[in-house]
Amino acid sequence: ADGASVPILIIGSGYGGAVAALRLALAGQQVAVVEKGMSWSTPGSDGKVFCNMLSPDGRSFWLRTMTDQPINHFLGVPYNKSISRYTGVLDSEQFSGIRIYQGRGVGGGSLVNGGMAVTPKQQYFGSILPSVDAASMYSTYYPRANANLKVNNVDQTWFESADCYQFARTGRRTAQASGFTTTFVPNVYDFNYMKQEQANTAPRSALNAEVIYGNNYGKNSLDKTYLAAAVATGKVTITPQHVVTTVKPSGSGYSVVMNQIDTNGSTVATKTVTAQKVFFAAGSVGTSKLLVTQRATGALPNLPASVGTGWGNNGNVMVARQNQAWDPTGSLQSCIPVMGIDNWADTGGPAFAEISPFPAGLETFASLYLAITKNPNRATFSYNSTSGGVDLNWQQAWNQPSIDAAKRIFDPINAKQWTIYRTDLFGEYKTWGDDFAYHPLGGCVLNVSTDNYGRLPGYPGLYVIDGSLIPGCTTVNPFVTITALAERNIENIVANDFH
Ligand code: FDA
Repeated sequence: ADGASVPILIIGSGYGGAVAALRLALAGQQVAVVEKGMSWSTPGSDGKVFCNMLSPDGRSFWLRTMTDQPINHFLGVPYNKSISRYTGVLDSEQFSGIRIYQGRGVGGGSLVNGGMAVTPKQQYFGSILPSVDAASMYSTYYPRANANLKVNNVDQTWFESADCYQFARTGRRTAQASGFTTTFVPNVYDFNYMKQEQANTAPRSALNAEVIYGNNYGKNSLDKTYLAAAVATGKVTITPQHVVTTVKPSGSGYSVVMNQIDTNGSTVATKTVTAQKVFFAAGSVGTSKLLVTQRATGALPNLPASVGTGWGNNGNVMVARQNQAWDPTGSLQSCIPVMGIDNWADTGGPAFAEISPFPAGLETFASLYLAITKNPNRATFSYNSTSGGVDLNWQQAWNQPSIDAAKRIFDPINAKQWTIYRTDLFGEYKTWGDDFAYHPLGGCVLNVSTDNYGRLPGYPGLYVIDGSLIPGCTTVNPFVTITALAERNIENIVANDFH
């Protein structure tokens, strides 16, 4: 409530915020979490909380009147659909050279992501977070994150015959035929539930084109794991539909200004809360935008000049191939990916490509991939005093190293299979999905803009605890690393900063 005073305020309820809420509560602290998006717990008139990808409505996108799918054409025809403007679960935030997809709601990105829960190979960890002790991450914090996220693996025997994974088997066969290594990828989606979907003994979710607009069943998103455990302590409140705009020193703590919004995105009330300690967990983009704004407008003028720098897209690039007629991908596809092509050891262009579903409801013979690559380019967020917003200077051409790395996998596959890239999905005649990112990382880098545990220098009691700490690349899908790093950092913060 307006004028309230709380010991700890957490901004955002994604991975970083959820870990902080649980660990602080278990340490006996009272915690208030504020979240910009909705609490996705009430079914709509169709009896479901979320809509699917084939018939999107207002619940799909954050304040848009048209969907903004990553795949925006099909057979050359524009593919997006009109929707009503609503605080939907998936945001595509447009910057000048890239649009960045993010989850909006209690649970953050866990509501919309593919659930792929990948722990990077330890040999690459030094390149991901050079200031962090790898041994303790792999002995303690990665296992802790995996257990609390409820990560599980597909039954490999079932996988070999399940209709819904024909696309993954075709992706594997064509990759292996060119000598590439494929690997099963763990997930937070409950694979026992998925078996029931395939057998038609439970309502379908992953098998009903549900993922980027939310899963009605099966997925262990954060609201079912970390956040449920946090709330069960009795010490955590989560307040949705509140957007934090200002954080500035006040007395011995900080005053935090937030706008309460309705489902049209309009402000219905502005509130000021005082907090002794504030955790920024608004995600790479959300936290970076907040911090560069506070520095530029004089709310937190002494934040380091490095805040806003070091942003990368995890080397994301998407591409599709058209298979031969004897290589179908299936009309029924699970939206939960379970396989990747691991070419990170290729020093000429490291890449890890997830074999992605393309749930069109009919046979397309298309293999779709989201490649994570080693792209050296890094961008900077800056406050724009004319617009009052925040710009990001990433340029689309900076994705060329990612395209080059992806081609090292898919050119040989096409050559061996006598197949071609599809050019009808990312525009009218466009091979590469190189204008968007699913994996924003960085902007407030650990041990550069913060100390080695996320404390902001010069402002005791201010912390960063989300993907903005990671400098641009995790070599695989990022949320397990974001969670494990948050576990490591909060343990140190609880031990040293609370008496
Ligand atoms: P996260 O973005 O999760 O949470 C931040 C929260 O803060 C959001 O809920 C936001 O609404 C809120 N917020 C922002 N600004 C605020 C403000 N001013 N006031 C209040 N609240 C505010 N990763 C992976 O490992 N495996 C995968 O399979 C996928 N797949 C995937 C698919 C899609 C479609 C997307 C968009 C993303 C993925 N990802 C993924 C990426 C993954 O979801 C992402 O890296 C994490 O969610 C980031 O976690 P954070 O805690 O950093 O922020």
